[in-house]
Amino acid sequence: MLSLSDLCCEHEGSPLGLVLKTPRFSWKLRSDTPNVLQTSYQLQIYRDKTLSTTDSMAADSKKQCLWDSGVQDCDASVLVTCGLPGLEAKTKYTWQVQVTDNQDRTATASGTFETGLGDWENPFGKWITGDAAGTSTVYLPSPLLRKTFSAEKPLAFARLYVTAQGVYEMSLNGKRVGEDYMTPGWTSYLKRTQYQTFDVTKALLTGENVLGASVGNGWFFSTLAKENHRDIYGKERGLLAELHLTYADGSEDIIATDESWKSHVGPTLCSEIYDGESYDARLEVAAWDTAACPDANWNPVRTVKSEVTRLVPQEVEPVRIHEILKPVTVITTPEGDTVLDFGQNVTGFVRFTIDGPEGATITLEHAEVFDKDGNFYLANMRAAKNLIHYTLKGTGPETWHPKFTFQGFRLVRIKTENLSWKPEQFTACVLHSEMRTSASFTCASPLVNQLYKNIVWGQKGNFLDVPTDCPQRDERLGWTGDAQAFVRTACTLMDTARFFTKWLHDLSADQLPNGCVPVIIPNVIAEQPDQPEQGVSSAAWGDAATICPWTVYRCYNEKNLLEAQFPSMKKWVDWITAQGGDGLWNVGFHFGDWLGLDAKPDSYVGATPTDLIATAFYAHSTDLLVKSATVLGYTEEADIYEALYKKIVGCFRHEFITPNGRLAAPTQTAHVLALHFDLLKESDRPRAIKDLAKLVEENDIALTTGFVGTPYLCHVLTRFGRHDLAGKLLLREKYPSWLYQVTKGATTIWEHWDGIKEDGSFWCADMNSFNHYAYGAIADWLFQVVAGIDMDVETPAYKHIVVRPQPFDGMPHAEASLETPYGAVRSCWTVSDGTFKLTLDVPANTTATVYLPGKADYEALTVGSGMRQVFSAPIKETVLT
Ligand code: BGC
Repeated sequence: MLSLSDLCCEHEGSPLGLVLKTPRFSWKLRSDTPNVLQTSYQLQIYRDKTLSTTDSMAADSKKQCLWDSGVQDCDASVLVTCGLPGLEAKTKYTWQVQVTDNQDRTATASGTFETGLGDWENPFGKWITGDAAGTSTVYLPSPLLRKTFSAEKPLAFARLYVTAQGVYEMSLNGKRVGEDYMTPGWTSYLKRTQYQTFDVTKALLTGENVLGASVGNGWFFSTLAKENHRDIYGKERGLLAELHLTYADGSEDIIATDESWKSHVGPTLCSEIYDGESYDARLEVAAWDTAACPDANWNPVRTVKSEVTRLVPQEVEPVRIHEILKPVTVITTPEGDTVLDFGQNVTGFVRFTIDGPEGATITLEHAEVFDKDGNFYLANMRAAKNLIHYTLKGTGPETWHPKFTFQGFRLVRIKTENLSWKPEQFTACVLHSEMRTSASFTCASPLVNQLYKNIVWGQKGNFLDVPTDCPQRDERLGWTGDAQAFVRTACTLMDTARFFTKWLHDLSADQLPNGCVPVIIPNVIAEQPDQPEQGVSSAAWGDAATICPWTVYRCYNEKNLLEAQFPSMKKWVDWITAQGGDGLWNVGFHFGDWLGLDAKPDSYVGATPTDLIATAFYAHSTDLLVKSATVLGYTEEADIYEALYKKIVGCFRHEFITPNGRLAAPTQTAHVLALHFDLLKESDRPRAIKDLAKLVEENDIALTTGFVGTPYLCHVLTRFGRHDLAGKLLLREKYPSWLYQVTKGATTIWEHWDGIKEDGSFWCADMNSFNHYAYGAIADWLFQVVAGIDMDVETPAYKHIVVRPQPFDGMPHAEASLETPYGAVRSCWTVSDGTFKLTLDVPANTTATVYLPGKADYEALTVGSGMRQVFSAPIKETVLT
């Protein structure tokens, strides 16, 4: 039987508030027989009903077919475009697809989607605030805002469109609107701020209704990046909302933010991204967001002028509460502190239930680790206070959690004034963007399995709306270098197509007119043109502009993103060219091989020359630009940049390779980049891999690489014939290695290879995050090489899968699955009694080439999709050594 599943419109099941552009559709084929390929599809789009009175309700009772692809003899099933010129605002659509396969079977399925307001231009509502004029202080309370209105007629639909300068929470008749946190999310606010669309039909009452809101500081208003660096985006917090009511009789009302809203002092005394939240429950106003609460004594709100120039529909999955963890133990430290240990370093906040007298307080502080002596350790949080302060109202058990902040923590120190509590009254609520988990990995090594879990937790902790370096100290910023190092892993472990799409739109928005890509996106350190960081970038950081869109395209077939980013990619390469190196990039500031272990004492910058790194990335970015131009059919650009690429490669060789073919810089990272980016002549490669292997072997079979070299190190060793060494690096438990931190009890990925040293002391106090995902990029080697799941270079989204599992000494088994846009690939292999056995699942509508390691020279077998297949081959001793 053939069936269709996972129907998506623009990567979402049933999107609400979609942009008005021509949408794209995806579906997966499921079959109980093997070798299934789609031979044709027919796509139809129906206009279901409008949500506004611009259309007569009667006409909507019958669905209207707007577009019919006809039968297309084509195997496309991922992000298939339709011919609709565009969509109408506030309209529901249905789409239907009928697929035929190569066994003459058909299957049909349908889905829905709904548009929002498009770009929210000329809002009917006004920006309002309950803040007193001129009260821009660090610790700003969040007043309660409300609006009473009546809805007398039977309702058909109610949609709330809302955004804020700050982060907001809204309610309707006492019920929280939606499950999203930290809305409207973090973008380059002044250039693009997202708004959210909520279906609130069910929460509306006939008669009197109350909309409630409060706005916290969020990223718009909190101190970010540097001390006293606040009000980056403006001086006023604000809320903009419109509730669109469509009645059954076709008439419409809009309840919008304006001067008629009222404000009252509320219990949230302050909320900051770094410093936490303070709440006085005694200031709660009973039933404040319902009609039961009179508002005659409430204050008028003020309207404020917003500097936001563009309001766009939500582009990314919302941030929501996911895992809920209980404390695993309560510890009394040598210094006498009481600390809850949640057993896992997470990002989110603590929810608690507490009972006590009015005015009693409880304070929570958040940390990642204990120090050497077992005491609560806060120094690595630097200036971030991460403090939650709650004052009880004293009317019985009170359950609460912060609304407008998040912390990165495993440990929570509790201070109370004579309140008694039990650990089960506290839970850690894990917050991150709602990305679908798409992968799993286990192997013969329990330590590697824990490493994999740590990488996944690192991604969860740092994918809270923006890819951040870390979630706990006074940074939590969209560092471009970290994102490019991890992007392929991120796209493997979870579905991050929308996550990166939104962030890359901000990258384009914040890119300077001359093409310079700031090192942080959204660019909070150099938002103002007169700031010293303006115009500064760095190799391997700014290159996120090319590496991220290309990777997202490859993993998800996201051609639209590639097309949208192409001008930014081009501007980035042109900016490097304009630095004047004539084929080299040898000027300007660079972070270098950040945190490389071959750095001079007291330096963060590894020993690899920065001009070598910069020129290598210049070549790589140009190469990706050529590939992108080719995919997009921009032949002229492809030719121009191909010539530039050749020039850069020539200059690289001239500058950094000796006439005898030796890399002049004797570092691991220099060799890794030259080999990984194909910068060497074919004839010089054997020497380079030999020299790299020597550098690793002479260093006690250990890495010295930092942020730049580490993501590619094992890939290079495997690709050029030293897979054995790559395996040894993975399995090494002594410092420095991936597993060293696992042996030290890490539950996420550390920023430093020696964040905690053998003797329990710390690398340093000021730059020592225990949740920094960059080195977690080893997971793409675990998938592509150890499990052996990769894709053909020519076919994005795993349409043609390349399966090449590669065992090594000490690794007799691995198993991974990956939910590709076509369905799940699963590779499970074992080596035993001289036989290599692989069990493989390949999804329908794909093909795979399988290379079995038992043969002298990996022999290719082309296999079709569908049912589970088992392969086995005698394995030669040499494969494992
Ligand atoms: C961040 C890094 C970042 C770096 C720039 C640090 O403070 O935490 O991850 O990439 O600065 O080198």
